[in-house]
Amino acid sequence: MKKITVIGAGNVGATVANVIAHKDLAREVVMVDIKEGVAEGKALDIWQTSSINNFNSRVIGVTNDYLRTKGSNIVVITSGLPRKPGMSRDDLISTNAKIVKEVTEKVIRYSPEAIIIVVSNPLDVMTYCAYKAARKDSRKVFGMAGILDTGRYRAFLADALKVSPKDIHAMLLGSHGDTMVPLPRYTSVGGIPVTELLNKEEIDKIVERTRKGGGELVTLMGTSAWYAPGAAAASMVEAIVDDQQRIFPVAAWLTGEYGLKDVYLGVPVKLGANGIEEIIELKLNKDEMKLMKESADGVFSMMKVLDDMNMFED
Ligand code: LAC
Repeated sequence: MKKITVIGAGNVGATVANVIAHKDLAREVVMVDIKEGVAEGKALDIWQTSSINNFNSRVIGVTNDYLRTKGSNIVVITSGLPRKPGMSRDDLISTNAKIVKEVTEKVIRYSPEAIIIVVSNPLDVMTYCAYKAARKDSRKVFGMAGILDTGRYRAFLADALKVSPKDIHAMLLGSHGDTMVPLPRYTSVGGIPVTELLNKEEIDKIVERTRKGGGELVTLMGTSAWYAPGAAAASMVEAIVDDQQRIFPVAAWLTGEYGLKDVYLGVPVKLGANGIEEIIELKLNKDEMKLMKESADGVFSMMKVLDDMNMFED
């Protein structure tokens, strides 16, 4: 059984820990936060559901005590500020980059072997930040976004088609931002291509709503979402813990795949005990490739902003 750490006990972090515990994925789940008492309190609250929900995963909360995270197999980083209405994810870069760098360095000090899953925004560039701070194999440092974005896309499709979301399979590429690239050509409903069930206009509307799906929730709630982001990160943890070899869209470091290099971007990967076991390259058509390039350009420009902050020695 594994030890899993979740950095940040805000809405997203606590939800990740809660889902991990409910699924009994770990021997121990350690939540870390900077606010005195928050992680301890939420951990205790979750742990008190163990007898009700029948799980053994011991949930522990600590304030800034990274020693308690020692020897973690997987670490999920959720630290940083969430969006407020009117903000884009990119607006968070200067605050969250410092936080993500610092927590990643502390994580690595105590768990050098850990697989790191980044959830903080702006997602793709924060994953790059954690990768630079962790100085380890990129197959073990990656970001959660595609599962969340396809989750939204699949929910909207289920509503439109009045079918079970379980029967909808979909792939989505690109950054976790308004330039994400949902792929109707790779979307099926019980094995039937979605393009046979909905017309282009209907699909386009759903794709557009998916792109702005995070923003829709920020407008409704005044802060960003947590149930779906938390569940999405926990399903990545599950794929790793159980060595499931599941195919998920994940923000991965590209080294030439899709004609792109040295950038974190959402692509289909096989996720298992070693982290990213394989990056899957789809044969994109010209239009899809163009959208993918545009999405990559957006991430490159944010990576430059991060590089210009001069936080890293090399
Ligand atoms: C969202 C945030 C977590 O998309 O990026 O809801």
